[in-house]
Amino acid sequence: MATAPSIVRTVAELRRQVAAWRAAGERVAMVPTMGALHEGHLSLVRLGLIRADHVVASIFVNPAQFAPHEDFDAYPRGEGRDAELLGQAGCELIFAPDVAVMYPDGFSTRVLVDGVSGPLEGEKRPQFFGGVATVVAKLLNQCGPDVALFGEKDYQQLLVIKRMARDLDLPVEIVGGPTVREADGLAMSSRNAYLSAEERATAALVPIVMAEAVERLRAGLAIEAVEAEAAARLEAAGFGPVDYVQAHDGETMARLGPGPVGAGARLFVAAWLGKTRLIDNWAV
Ligand code: PAF
Repeated sequence: MATAPSIVRTVAELRRQVAAWRAAGERVAMVPTMGALHEGHLSLVRLGLIRADHVVASIFVNPAQFAPHEDFDAYPRGEGRDAELLGQAGCELIFAPDVAVMYPDGFSTRVLVDGVSGPLEGEKRPQFFGGVATVVAKLLNQCGPDVALFGEKDYQQLLVIKRMARDLDLPVEIVGGPTVREADGLAMSSRNAYLSAEERATAALVPIVMAEAVERLRAGLAIEAVEAEAAARLEAAGFGPVDYVQAHDGETMARLGPGPVGAGARLFVAAWLGKTRLIDNWAV
């Protein structure tokens, strides 16, 4: 039977446990999360256990990555359930700091990553990547893991974090884990909990429309026509607004097109369904 993970709330307690593992010559993996865990997060814990002896998960709903009009207050929270799931997946330690631990009075630093953070989420949610890069830089510094794991569902976020770790010489390997999907193909996301039953049924259209768009791109059709058709299909099904359906380079995030795609392309989507914003991406 899995043991319940310990929960620590201060940086000193976190560092004490990680130092003890290190002193025993053991490797440590970190899975940063905002809680409301699903199989996508748990798959990262299991991946972490392949690369390290111990997994630390953080649970922190990071106010710095939400704009004032976004869903910070509504974001689902449930530490007891999260801890149980993490324990079952093999995580031994949870770091669950308060806002005052992460952002004490007078906190005034922001980590900004240029380039890969520019398009897509960078345009639609201008505060987002600064908030993510800042909190992830802090979490990695606080924990000092050998490896840190992030889901490819937030593919642009993964690239931003890889760039930041490289640019700041953080001594950690950043690893992406494959997107975990529901049986009908919808990418797992904590925000799927916002969907009504009717919206949940409609949401299944995202992977269908996007898989067909990817096939068209592979067949050599013009990027701009494929993007426009996919966005129109989503709009016709009740999504709105469709923030983007766009092909970008999977390393640099450079916008692709016009014309057919080359190697290394990825197709990204963000679309609203009622009050829920769904994002996803596929390798072309
Ligand atoms: O992907 C998330 O859950 C968050 O953006 C992260 C990486 C934990 C930073 O708050």
